[in-house]
Amino acid sequence: MAVSRTPLIAGNWKMNLDHLQAVALVQKLHWTLKDADHETGSVEVALFPPFTDIRSVQTLIDADKIPFAFGAQDLSAHDSGAYTGEVSGAFLSKLQCRYVIIGHSERREYHAEGDDLVAAKVQAALRHGLVPVICVGETLEQLEEFGASAVPVSQLKAALADVPADADIVVAYEPVWAIGTGKVATSAQAQEVCAALRAVIAESLGDEAAARTRVLYGGSVKSSSIAGLMREPDIDGALVGGASLLADEFAAIIRYQKHVGV
Ligand code: 13P
Repeated sequence: MAVSRTPLIAGNWKMNLDHLQAVALVQKLHWTLKDADHETGSVEVALFPPFTDIRSVQTLIDADKIPFAFGAQDLSAHDSGAYTGEVSGAFLSKLQCRYVIIGHSERREYHAEGDDLVAAKVQAALRHGLVPVICVGETLEQLEEFGASAVPVSQLKAALADVPADADIVVAYEPVWAIGTGKVATSAQAQEVCAALRAVIAESLGDEAAARTRVLYGGSVKSSSIAGLMREPDIDGALVGGASLLADEFAAIIRYQKHVGV
């Protein structure tokens, strides 16, 4: 039985925009989509602001009934206690976060997050009712040495080790060489790895989970490249960095269905 997956366009703001700028961007994005008569529901939109912005974004989205989901860019593997500087999944869930990004390559690289910590954070997210957006991807050296799928596949297997078959998760393939470089993977390249990742989901969680779980591509996604990516059968959306900070450009990415023929 074919299962349809709602496309997910997610904006990872990284360490950009304070809470006032965050409110301005959410409002502008909302108005831009409204002006364009964007049909909400055809695509899910999720925003990932810095921790200090989340409360402001939540209040605005709630008050104005804006149809955007939101989440955090990271969480602690622990639930509470003496972990200075960390943020518990319990707090995020209380703030009505639906999602949390886990294992982004910038966390893996600059904060030495390995597969074990990523797996522990996935468990923490699930304990608190958050949907983990599990990021995997290879560096240029790894691409040259092992090919495109090997590293992302092994990272995902590790992250899914103790995940129950009925868990709600999102997987994001983000080749490190494509992040912030302007060098987007070709649709065929991205499709090949996303298909391999879906096979890992099937192997770890079963066919039903593989059929319903969204697999995103991330890395220099722009309005000019999104339509080609979204035509691929195993790409269900995008995790967008730089372009998600620009209301017009991000709105154009969200509205990719209007230019799929391009
Ligand atoms: P860019 O879209 O800026 O390349 O960033 C991608 C990314 O890392 C999203 O998580």
